[in-house]
Amino acid sequence: MQIIRSVDELIGYVAMQKNHHHEIGFVPTMGALHAGHISLVERAVSDSDVTIVSVFVNPTQFNNPTDLATYPRDEESDFKLLAGAGVSAVFAPSVEEMYPSGTASDHVFELGTAAEVMEGKYRPGHFQGVAQVVKRLFELVRPDKAYFGEKDFQQIAVIRNMVKSEHIDVEIVACPIKRADDGLALSSRNQLLTAEQRRRAPEIHSALAWSVEYSRDHSVRATHDSVVERIDAVPEMKVEYFEIVDARTLLPVEEWDESPEIVGCITVYNGKVRLIDNIRYR
Ligand code: PAJ
Repeated sequence: MQIIRSVDELIGYVAMQKNHHHEIGFVPTMGALHAGHISLVERAVSDSDVTIVSVFVNPTQFNNPTDLATYPRDEESDFKLLAGAGVSAVFAPSVEEMYPSGTASDHVFELGTAAEVMEGKYRPGHFQGVAQVVKRLFELVRPDKAYFGEKDFQQIAVIRNMVKSEHIDVEIVACPIKRADDGLALSSRNQLLTAEQRRRAPEIHSALAWSVEYSRDHSVRATHDSVVERIDAVPEMKVEYFEIVDARTLLPVEEWDESPEIVGCITVYNGKVRLIDNIRYR
């Protein structure tokens, strides 16, 4: 596996692959890799001639400086996992390499209403930062396919809108959420939980999974409220938002028959650690 630190080297590597007519699969990440990331990587490796993974903690998508400062990093372990998964090259640039003229940008991406709700509302600027880094990565890597996890359900919708509004020719592949045996969605942030918080964390997925059954004979409102009540009853846990939305527009639904595809998206503070998850109702 080639470890690439500079933009120039990446451009050269990609040009060589294009000369050989190799299909490029790309998995952007912020490192601290776990089996969730690796499931995307494995999918890319089986689909493509070459797989490129980026490991870059993008400062422009963090609206909270403490969150950026405490974001877990372990490059050595990341590279080992990626080499083991059959990755061709990893791009792990410094902030200066990614943003040579600074992180400020006056380009405002058109990301649609999907970027204004939920994460967009609670993390102002987050999706502009995600769009900024993913666009730059797409320009450098020039992938045929790029892989994203449904754990960040809203992020996929926003990336699709970005690709459309920026006229980028890439196929966005959505991959299922990978969970621990106890149901907790794998996340780099899980490392930040205390033993007690980790022990209670599966309640998020349990409450969501239970609510799918509950929703069969209860209203959207009742289903919503029962999930929030159940999670808020757990010590140290507080729901930031739980929204039951149309899976395509990400706008809230009021009735189950309003849309053929409905997803519940949740963000929970478990102590100081912000965890996200989602579940499909329809
Ligand atoms: P990061 O949080 O590192 O996630 C990288 C990719 O892995 C995302 O597409 C995310 O949805 C996916 N992923 C994370 N946990 C997963 C799980 N348990 N199951 C399946 N997929 C999972 O998302 C980002 O980084 C950044 O916003 C990025 C797109 C790299 C831009 O900086």
